[in-house]
Amino acid sequence: MGSPKSWSASSRVRRTTAMRWARFCYKVLYAVSFLAAMYAVLAHFRSAPPISSSDSDEEAPPGLDSLVHNTTTIVLSPITRAEQEQRRWIEKPNSLCFGLGNVTILTVTIDLPKAYLVQLRRNRLSYASIHGYRYCEVSTTLESSRPPAWTKVKAMMLLLSFTDIVVAMDADAIIRNNTIRIESILELEVYDLKDKDAIYTNDFQQDRQSEATPKSFINTGVYIMRNTPWIKGFLESVHKFYQSSMFQKNLERDEVMLYRMKNADEFNEHVAIIPFRYMNSPVTQDLDKYEDGDFVAHYAEEHSPDKYRELASQLATMNV
Ligand SMILES: *[C@@H]1O[C@H](CO)[C@@H](O)[C@H](O)[C@H]1NC(C)=O
Ligand SMILES: *[C@@H]1O[C@H](CO)[C@@H](O)[C@H](O)[C@H]1NC(C)=O
Ligand SMILES: *[C@@H]1O[C@H](CO)[C@@H](O)[C@H](O)[C@H]1NC(C)=O
Repeated sequence: MGSPKSWSASSRVRRTTAMRWARFCYKVLYAVSFLAAMYAVLAHFRSAPPISSSDSDEEAPPGLDSLVHNTTTIVLSPITRAEQEQRRWIEKPNSLCFGLGNVTILTVTIDLPKAYLVQLRRNRLSYASIHGYRYCEVSTTLESSRPPAWTKVKAMMLLLSFTDIVVAMDADAIIRNNTIRIESILELEVYDLKDKDAIYTNDFQQDRQSEATPKSFINTGVYIMRNTPWIKGFLESVHKFYQSSMFQKNLERDEVMLYRMKNADEFNEHVAIIPFRYMNSPVTQDLDKYEDGDFVAHYAEEHSPDKYRELASQLATMNV
């Protein structure tokens, strides 16, 4: 302690101890604030009410309110492993499911204006509750490096790991006739859909009345898939094509059609294409092939805030 040398040594020790201590404190602070931020984000998602009640209570059809606010329908007691999977899915901060039916309606709602989202949920939940179906919604991306259409494919894969029939409906596809059951589409005799793994519709350049052919362009706005071994391989291939193909800018539809191009016989054996009038009638400014009584109107304009603002006010006046 006496000599300058040892004084400076012990001071260095003290200084390094102080520095270590400071670094430690910094790390603890950093960790605590990181955890707090994570907690805040998670808490936000977990506690976010499914619907803002003041906006929707007035128009909500009977039964819907209890579906939306009654937690007993969301908190499930798992019985099987499949049910446990489902529970995990539901608890993810980016997804919500309501109901327990054997048919699941899936809609991806990334970046939708709130006013529209409220109307859309009303549309989906009233349909699901009438028929005892389940409605699942994904509100944040499951596939951050890709456009939202791929979140739909990913969610479809997840849902089909524990549920039998999933109907994907784009956020701009509105159920207009809620008396039409999915079963009635699956039972359409002319198309013999009983053994099909997937059911798409043709695309909108065809006429309303024209029949779809195995070469028809496909529209992926609304489609039905069953939980089969084939569908898993199919979805995985379609999902993989995105990385390897030169069609990267294009969406799900192009990858599905690319799969068909490469494996035509197999595709046609497993996939049916039915006319859009059954579940995917287009309504755009230039192209209105929807008719009263149709199951779904697909407002297939380019996505934009204006489009959804307009649709939200239209939907508010629709009795669906
Ligand atoms: C919530 O749902 C359960 C089961 O569906 C039902 O028995 C109960 O009455 C509901 N509660 C409310 C407050 O609606
Ligand atoms: C779902 O279950 C209901 C009631 O058991 C049944 O009537 C209906 O056919 C089933 N739907 C499908 C698609 O399996
Ligand atoms: C809904 O569809 C059914 C069956 O096609 C039809 O009988 C009914 O009139 C339609 N409802 C409306 C409101 O258009």
